[in-house]
Amino acid sequence: GIRQAAALLRQGRLVAFPTETVYGLGAIAFDALAVARIFEAKRRPSFDPVIVHVADDAMLARVVRELPPLARRLIDHFWPGPLTLVLERTDDVPRIVTAGLDSVGVRMPSHPVARALLREVSAPVAAPSANAFGSLSPTRAEHVVRSLGSRVDCVLDAGPTPLGVESTILQVLPHPVLLRPGALPLEEIEAVVGPVERASRNDDEAPRSPGRLEHHYAPQTPLRITHGDRVPLAERSGAGYLAFERGVEGYAAVRVLAPDGDMSRAAARLFECLHELDTGSLSRIDAEPVVESGLGLAIMDRLRRAAAR
Ligand code: TXA
Ligand code: MG
Repeated sequence: GIRQAAALLRQGRLVAFPTETVYGLGAIAFDALAVARIFEAKRRPSFDPVIVHVADDAMLARVVRELPPLARRLIDHFWPGPLTLVLERTDDVPRIVTAGLDSVGVRMPSHPVARALLREVSAPVAAPSANAFGSLSPTRAEHVVRSLGSRVDCVLDAGPTPLGVESTILQVLPHPVLLRPGALPLEEIEAVVGPVERASRNDDEAPRSPGRLEHHYAPQTPLRITHGDRVPLAERSGAGYLAFERGVEGYAAVRVLAPDGDMSRAAARLFECLHELDTGSLSRIDAEPVVESGLGLAIMDRLRRAAAR
């Protein structure tokens, strides 16, 4: 399967593949035409840059002009893994990948299937999440097929993705700025590089990280953030509840993210549970807020976006 997928990529076709975070929709990063097809398949506005995935330092060097010492330190600590660094791009990276920016978002995934695919094509692969623009991110091959259907040429199915939320995105220069909270907790990054600035939520300068657009990651069903036990019983019927540790009575459907209170389990199940509640039979989804530290930061970020719709 990996060999076939690599062959398709070389022909400029689109391949969805698992990473440790979510499924990505890939094309060879130097193939501008193929990358254009990603935007088409996702119905993604062309001002939203795509993350480039690399397997080793040699691939990284083809994409990134220069590694500041801070980036090197982060790479040594966290790669392969769910950290995307925004760095200065080389001239080889087509404009369409970076949406015209001089920077490129790059990461080295740790998922064995992603790594095998990258090694097999021996080229960097540009891949946003493998879902239609603005909709829920895919943590299973079925999610990809449901969202993109025949607009994707091949899906490598490796079961559910282990982390379940997207990578943390960090701009490195001139100083570290968190562009998107994600699967690598901010606290772990700060333990290595010191304090990190958080990009303000309503940053509307030229999109520093358009993944930050409001109403991204949204289910079709309206969603609000609220404690279910504070919602009047009459309002619960017909609605769904996304709980953290414990369900609440009276809802038509309930999903519990982590019965044991484990935040990494909650993150891993977040999109999965939202997909399950978003089948069209519920009038509304109430999502319980979680504590905003560690992975809770990424979870609340995704829930707020989903609620902003
Ligand atoms: O975990 C992940 O990051 C997954 C897997 C497939 O790797 N990918 C992912 O890609 O979430 P996507 O396209 O859904 O989100 C990528 C975000 C873009 O929305 C954009 O905001 C940011 O990365 N990004 C990419 N390049 C950038 C750049 N040069 N400057 C600022 N932000 C950038
Ligand atoms: Mg996405």
